[in-house]
Amino acid sequence: MFTTPLPANSTQSALSEGKLRYGLPLRVLHWLTALCMFVVIPLAWYMTELDRHNPAREGWFNLHKSIGLTVLLLTLIRVFTRLSNAPTPLPESIPSFERTLAHIGHGLLYVILIAMPVSGYLNSYGAGHAVNWFWLFRVPAVVPESHWLAHLGGQIHALLAWATYALIVGHLLAVLYHQLIQRVDLLARMTLRTGVTKGSQR
Ligand code: HEM
Ligand code: HEM
Repeated sequence: MFTTPLPANSTQSALSEGKLRYGLPLRVLHWLTALCMFVVIPLAWYMTELDRHNPAREGWFNLHKSIGLTVLLLTLIRVFTRLSNAPTPLPESIPSFERTLAHIGHGLLYVILIAMPVSGYLNSYGAGHAVNWFWLFRVPAVVPESHWLAHLGGQIHALLAWATYALIVGHLLAVLYHQLIQRVDLLARMTLRTGVTKGSQR
Protein backbone atom coordinates (compact mmCIF):
# COMPACT_ATOMS: atom_id res chain seq x y z
CA MET A 1 0.00 0.00 0.00
CA PHE A 2 1.27 3.48 -0.93
CA THR A 3 4.55 2.09 -2.17
CA THR A 4 4.45 3.17 -5.79
CA PRO A 5 8.07 2.88 -6.87
CA LEU A 6 9.81 6.10 -7.81
CA PRO A 7 11.37 6.38 -11.27
CA ALA A 8 15.03 5.33 -11.53
CA ASN A 9 17.37 7.69 -9.68
CA SER A 10 14.52 9.75 -8.30
CA THR A 11 15.01 8.41 -4.76
CA GLN A 12 18.58 9.60 -4.82
CA SER A 13 17.69 12.96 -6.30
CA ALA A 14 14.81 13.34 -3.84
CA LEU A 15 17.29 12.73 -1.02
CA SER A 16 19.81 15.17 -2.35
CA GLU A 17 17.10 17.77 -2.79
CA GLY A 18 16.40 17.32 0.92
CA LYS A 19 12.96 15.76 0.43
CA LEU A 20 13.36 13.23 3.21
CA ARG A 21 10.57 14.90 5.13
CA TYR A 22 6.85 14.59 4.58
CA GLY A 23 5.28 17.67 2.97
CA LEU A 24 3.83 20.27 5.36
CA PRO A 25 0.16 19.35 4.68
CA LEU A 26 0.87 15.68 5.50
CA ARG A 27 2.76 16.64 8.65
CA VAL A 28 -0.04 18.93 9.85
CA LEU A 29 -2.64 16.24 9.07
CA HIS A 30 -0.56 13.62 10.94
CA TRP A 31 -0.41 15.67 14.15
CA LEU A 32 -4.04 16.79 14.01
CA THR A 33 -5.06 13.14 13.59
CA ALA A 34 -2.75 11.98 16.38
CA LEU A 35 -4.18 14.66 18.69
CA CYS A 36 -7.75 13.58 17.87
CA MET A 37 -6.83 9.92 18.50
CA PHE A 38 -5.26 10.70 21.86
CA VAL A 39 -8.48 12.46 22.88
CA VAL A 40 -11.12 10.23 21.28
CA ILE A 41 -9.86 6.98 22.87
CA PRO A 42 -9.75 8.06 26.56
CA LEU A 43 -13.08 9.77 25.91
CA ALA A 44 -14.50 6.42 24.77
CA TRP A 45 -13.25 4.72 27.95
CA TYR A 46 -14.74 7.49 30.09
CA MET A 47 -18.13 7.73 28.36
CA THR A 48 -18.74 3.96 28.27
CA GLU A 49 -18.22 3.84 32.06
CA LEU A 50 -20.93 6.45 32.69
CA ASP A 51 -24.26 5.37 34.11
CA ARG A 52 -26.99 5.16 31.45
CA HIS A 53 -29.09 7.66 33.44
CA ASN A 54 -26.30 10.21 33.72
CA PRO A 55 -27.65 13.37 31.96
CA ALA A 56 -24.15 14.29 30.69
CA ARG A 57 -23.68 10.91 28.95
CA GLU A 58 -25.27 11.93 25.67
CA GLY A 59 -23.02 15.00 25.44
CA TRP A 60 -19.85 12.94 25.97
CA PHE A 61 -21.00 10.46 23.30
CA ASN A 62 -21.68 13.32 20.89
CA LEU A 63 -18.20 14.73 21.54
CA HIS A 64 -16.63 11.29 20.92
CA LYS A 65 -18.53 10.94 17.67
CA SER A 66 -17.73 14.50 16.54
CA ILE A 67 -13.99 13.96 17.05
CA GLY A 68 -14.22 10.50 15.45
CA LEU A 69 -15.89 11.89 12.32
CA THR A 70 -13.22 14.62 12.23
CA VAL A 71 -10.61 11.85 12.11
CA LEU A 72 -12.43 10.39 9.09
CA LEU A 73 -12.46 13.75 7.31
CA LEU A 74 -8.76 14.41 8.06
CA THR A 75 -7.86 10.92 6.88
CA LEU A 76 -9.74 11.18 3.59
CA ILE A 77 -7.95 14.48 2.86
CA ARG A 78 -4.67 12.88 3.93
CA VAL A 79 -5.03 9.77 1.77
CA PHE A 80 -5.93 11.96 -1.20
CA THR A 81 -2.88 14.21 -0.59
CA ARG A 82 -0.67 11.18 -0.01
CA LEU A 83 -1.71 9.44 -3.23
CA SER A 84 -1.52 12.53 -5.38
CA ASN A 85 2.14 13.17 -4.46
CA ALA A 86 5.28 11.06 -4.89
CA PRO A 87 5.89 8.97 -1.73
CA THR A 88 8.45 10.30 0.75
CA PRO A 89 11.33 7.80 0.51
CA LEU A 90 12.49 6.21 3.76
CA PRO A 91 16.16 6.83 4.64
CA GLU A 92 18.34 4.33 2.77
CA SER A 93 19.88 3.08 6.02
CA ILE A 94 16.60 1.34 6.90
CA PRO A 95 16.80 -2.38 5.97
CA SER A 96 14.24 -3.74 3.50
CA PHE A 97 12.56 -5.94 6.15
CA GLU A 98 11.88 -2.89 8.30
CA ARG A 99 10.67 -0.92 5.26
CA THR A 100 8.14 -3.65 4.55
CA LEU A 101 7.01 -3.64 8.19
CA ALA A 102 6.70 0.16 8.10
CA HIS A 103 4.58 0.04 4.93
CA ILE A 104 2.30 -2.64 6.37
CA GLY A 105 2.02 -0.85 9.73
CA HIS A 106 1.25 2.52 8.15
CA GLY A 107 -1.24 0.93 5.74
CA LEU A 108 -3.04 -0.74 8.66
CA LEU A 109 -3.11 2.53 10.59
CA TYR A 110 -4.84 4.15 7.61
CA VAL A 111 -7.35 1.26 7.51
CA ILE A 112 -8.09 1.82 11.21
CA LEU A 113 -8.43 5.59 10.75
CA ILE A 114 -11.22 4.91 8.25
CA ALA A 115 -12.79 1.73 9.66
CA MET A 116 -13.18 3.03 13.24
CA PRO A 117 -15.25 6.11 12.34
CA VAL A 118 -17.23 4.22 9.67
CA SER A 119 -18.14 1.38 12.06
CA GLY A 120 -19.02 3.93 14.77
CA TYR A 121 -21.20 5.74 12.26
CA LEU A 122 -23.00 2.50 11.32
CA ASN A 123 -23.46 1.68 15.00
CA SER A 124 -25.00 5.07 15.77
CA TYR A 125 -27.04 5.72 12.63
CA GLY A 126 -28.25 2.10 12.48
CA ALA A 127 -29.68 2.74 15.95
CA GLY A 128 -31.18 6.06 14.82
CA HIS A 129 -28.80 8.32 16.81
CA ALA A 130 -27.67 11.27 14.69
CA VAL A 131 -24.42 13.10 15.42
CA ASN A 132 -24.61 16.84 16.09
CA TRP A 133 -21.06 17.71 14.93
CA PHE A 134 -19.59 19.78 17.80
CA TRP A 135 -23.13 21.06 18.33
CA LEU A 136 -22.87 22.97 15.04
CA PHE A 137 -24.89 20.86 12.58
CA ARG A 138 -26.46 17.45 12.20
CA VAL A 139 -24.43 14.98 10.17
CA PRO A 140 -26.82 13.47 7.61
CA ALA A 141 -27.79 9.80 7.65
CA VAL A 142 -26.60 7.86 4.62
CA VAL A 143 -27.70 4.47 5.96
CA PRO A 144 -31.17 3.31 7.00
CA GLU A 145 -32.08 2.63 10.62
CA SER A 146 -31.48 -1.07 11.13
CA HIS A 147 -30.87 -3.16 14.20
CA TRP A 148 -28.65 -5.47 12.17
CA LEU A 149 -26.46 -2.61 10.89
CA ALA A 150 -26.17 -1.10 14.36
CA HIS A 151 -25.11 -4.46 15.78
CA LEU A 152 -22.59 -5.11 13.00
CA GLY A 153 -21.10 -1.60 13.39
CA GLY A 154 -20.90 -2.05 17.17
CA GLN A 155 -19.14 -5.41 16.88
CA ILE A 156 -16.58 -4.12 14.37
CA HIS A 157 -15.99 -0.96 16.44
CA ALA A 158 -15.34 -2.92 19.64
CA LEU A 159 -13.11 -5.47 17.88
CA LEU A 160 -11.07 -2.91 15.97
CA ALA A 161 -10.59 -0.89 19.17
CA TRP A 162 -8.06 -3.56 20.18
CA ALA A 163 -6.32 -3.42 16.82
CA THR A 164 -6.18 0.37 17.22
CA TYR A 165 -4.44 0.12 20.60
CA ALA A 166 -1.97 -2.47 19.28
CA LEU A 167 -1.13 -0.50 16.14
CA ILE A 168 -0.61 2.77 18.00
CA VAL A 169 1.64 1.09 20.58
CA GLY A 170 3.55 -0.66 17.77
CA HIS A 171 3.87 2.65 15.88
CA LEU A 172 5.26 4.48 18.90
CA LEU A 173 7.67 1.65 19.72
CA ALA A 174 8.90 1.61 16.10
CA VAL A 175 9.55 5.36 16.16
CA LEU A 176 11.36 5.07 19.53
CA TYR A 177 13.41 2.09 18.30
CA HIS A 178 14.62 3.98 15.24
CA GLN A 179 15.14 7.16 17.17
CA LEU A 180 17.00 5.81 20.19
CA ILE A 181 18.54 2.51 19.12
CA GLN A 182 19.06 2.74 15.35
CA ARG A 183 19.79 6.47 15.63
CA VAL A 184 17.77 7.28 12.50
CA ASP A 185 15.92 10.53 13.11
CA LEU A 186 12.50 9.57 11.68
CA LEU A 187 10.83 12.12 13.93
CA ALA A 188 12.44 14.94 11.94
CA ARG A 189 10.49 13.71 8.90
CA MET A 190 7.25 14.47 10.69
CA THR A 191 7.95 17.48 12.95
CA LEU A 192 6.30 20.78 12.10
CA ARG A 193 9.41 22.95 12.21
CA THR A 194 10.18 24.49 8.84
CA GLY A 195 13.44 24.67 6.94
CA VAL A 196 16.18 22.17 7.78
CA THR A 197 15.84 18.86 6.05
CA LYS A 198 19.38 17.62 6.20
CA GLY A 199 19.29 16.42 9.80
CA SER A 200 16.92 13.62 8.87
CA GLN A 201 19.65 10.98 9.08
CA ARG A 202 22.28 11.08 11.78
C1 HEM B 1 -11.06 7.26 14.95
C2 HEM B 1 -12.29 7.28 15.41
C3 HEM B 1 -12.79 6.51 16.59
C4 HEM B 1 -12.11 5.78 17.54
C5 HEM B 1 -10.61 5.54 17.64
C6 HEM B 1 -13.10 5.24 18.44
C7 HEM B 1 -12.82 4.45 19.54
C8 HEM B 1 -13.75 3.92 20.38
C9 HEM B 1 -13.45 3.06 21.48
C10 HEM B 1 -12.04 2.62 21.89
C11 HEM B 1 -14.61 2.73 22.07
C12 HEM B 1 -14.81 1.81 23.28
C13 HEM B 1 -15.01 0.43 22.71
C14 HEM B 1 -15.24 -0.58 23.76
O1 HEM B 1 -14.34 -0.78 24.56
O2 HEM B 1 -16.31 -1.17 23.73
C15 HEM B 1 -15.68 3.38 21.36
C16 HEM B 1 -17.01 3.30 21.66
C17 HEM B 1 -18.01 3.90 20.93
N1 HEM B 1 -17.84 4.66 19.79
FE1 HEM B 1 -16.11 5.15 18.92
N2 HEM B 1 -14.34 5.63 18.04
C18 HEM B 1 -14.20 6.41 16.92
C19 HEM B 1 -15.19 7.01 16.19
C20 HEM B 1 -16.55 6.90 16.45
C21 HEM B 1 -17.60 7.49 15.66
C22 HEM B 1 -17.38 8.37 14.42
C23 HEM B 1 -18.78 7.14 16.22
C24 HEM B 1 -20.19 7.45 15.80
C25 HEM B 1 -20.52 8.28 14.83
C26 HEM B 1 -18.47 6.32 17.39
C27 HEM B 1 -19.41 5.77 18.23
C28 HEM B 1 -19.11 5.02 19.35
C29 HEM B 1 -20.12 4.48 20.23
C30 HEM B 1 -21.64 4.66 20.10
C31 HEM B 1 -19.43 3.77 21.22
C32 HEM B 1 -20.02 3.02 22.42
C33 HEM B 1 -20.25 1.58 22.03
C34 HEM B 1 -20.84 0.83 23.19
O3 HEM B 1 -21.45 1.43 24.04
O4 HEM B 1 -20.65 -0.37 23.18
N3 HEM B 1 -17.10 6.20 17.49
N4 HEM B 1 -15.12 4.11 20.33
C1 HEM C 1 3.28 10.89 19.84
C2 HEM C 1 2.71 10.15 18.92
C3 HEM C 1 3.26 9.91 17.53
C4 HEM C 1 4.53 10.06 17.04
C5 HEM C 1 5.78 10.50 17.79
C6 HEM C 1 4.48 9.69 15.65
C7 HEM C 1 5.57 9.73 14.79
C8 HEM C 1 5.54 9.41 13.46
C9 HEM C 1 6.65 9.49 12.56
C10 HEM C 1 8.07 9.94 12.96
C11 HEM C 1 6.25 9.10 11.35
C12 HEM C 1 7.10 9.03 10.08
C13 HEM C 1 7.58 7.63 9.86
C14 HEM C 1 8.47 7.63 8.66
O1 HEM C 1 9.61 8.05 8.80
O2 HEM C 1 8.03 7.23 7.58
C15 HEM C 1 4.86 8.74 11.45
C16 HEM C 1 4.09 8.27 10.41
C17 HEM C 1 2.78 7.91 10.53
N1 HEM C 1 2.01 8.01 11.67
FE1 HEM C 1 2.60 8.66 13.47
N2 HEM C 1 3.21 9.31 15.31
C18 HEM C 1 2.43 9.44 16.44
C19 HEM C 1 1.11 9.15 16.54
C20 HEM C 1 0.34 8.61 15.54
C21 HEM C 1 -1.04 8.21 15.68
C22 HEM C 1 -1.86 8.32 16.98
C23 HEM C 1 -1.42 7.73 14.47
C24 HEM C 1 -2.75 7.16 14.07
C25 HEM C 1 -3.45 6.37 14.79
C26 HEM C 1 -0.29 7.83 13.56
C27 HEM C 1 -0.30 7.44 12.24
C28 HEM C 1 0.76 7.53 11.38
C29 HEM C 1 0.72 7.09 9.99
C30 HEM C 1 -0.48 6.49 9.27
C31 HEM C 1 1.98 7.34 9.47
C32 HEM C 1 2.44 7.04 8.04
C33 HEM C 1 2.44 8.31 7.25
C34 HEM C 1 2.55 8.03 5.77
O3 HEM C 1 3.49 7.37 5.35
O4 HEM C 1 1.67 8.50 5.04
N3 HEM C 1 0.75 8.38 14.25
N4 HEM C 1 4.45 8.94 12.74
